[in-house]
Amino acid sequence: MMDFSERFPYFGAVLSNRAKGIDIMIKTSEKPAPKAGIAHNRVLLKMSGEVLMGEKEFGLDSKTLNRVARDIKQVIDMGVEVCVSVGAGNIFRGVSGAAEGMDRTQADYMGMLGIVINALALQSALEQLNVDTRVMSAIPMSAICEPYIRRKAMRHMEKGRVVIFAAGTGNPYFTSDTTAALRASEMNCDAILKGTKVDGVYTADPNKDPSAKRFDQITYMDVLTKDLRVMDATAVSLARENDIPIIIFNVRQEGNFAQVMTGKGTFTTVSGK
Ligand code: GTP
Repeated sequence: MMDFSERFPYFGAVLSNRAKGIDIMIKTSEKPAPKAGIAHNRVLLKMSGEVLMGEKEFGLDSKTLNRVARDIKQVIDMGVEVCVSVGAGNIFRGVSGAAEGMDRTQADYMGMLGIVINALALQSALEQLNVDTRVMSAIPMSAICEPYIRRKAMRHMEKGRVVIFAAGTGNPYFTSDTTAALRASEMNCDAILKGTKVDGVYTADPNKDPSAKRFDQITYMDVLTKDLRVMDATAVSLARENDIPIIIFNVRQEGNFAQVMTGKGTFTTVSGK
């Protein structure tokens, strides 16, 4: 009969080295060393599908896609590890489909396919700038992109590749905000950067109320109890549980992503403090 070391040679070697006093670290998710002047080392950028349609009413705007890709490249060039989670509101909204009488789960799966389209478009725009990217889908579709495997995603990021998460969490009833909070937690990200149309969280809608004031800092609990709709409650709770700050900034302005990464510019930080 084979002993343990013969059946499992790798672990056998680890155990025998331990016996000799040699410590072996099994690396899973080492965080990069902090860089001077940069607020975060590994971040998840969350963008709604609407951002990618620019001024259009539907679909993708190539000028906007290219601008977003330039913004991401700028941050990658600073040495930051970046992963991206996009929505699909520019293609199909699961919630609206359900409101119009469609089965909710069916509508949500259509939304997840919309995310795959956005992810592939963003990959294409990034590759035109010679940025290495990998699209990883929560729903395996091997002919199109890689399946999502956490450890593999981590390695891609460590190698400086932009990982774009596609197909949401792979489950209906979850939003792309929740996907962002989930993947940021799994990837051990330092922050979730939520790119929106506005430059932060306000006391009221700044488009409707000119006296609305922007918060520099706000707590997860404030967002939840005051129903500020920064992100959906599941996403905020998940970020809170894992102590990942959510930074709300205007992604429509070129260069803003990099500015926020250096702690400059205008934004609101949602955190435990
Ligand atoms: P490492 O070699 O581990 O650093 O990563 P890599 O992604 O460069 O190597 P890999 O051989 O895994 O992938 C090579 C190319 O094939 C990359 O462009 C991947 O995105 C792509 N690829 C890998 N797995 C799949 C898959 O399951 N489906 C599809 N469509 N492409 C894949």
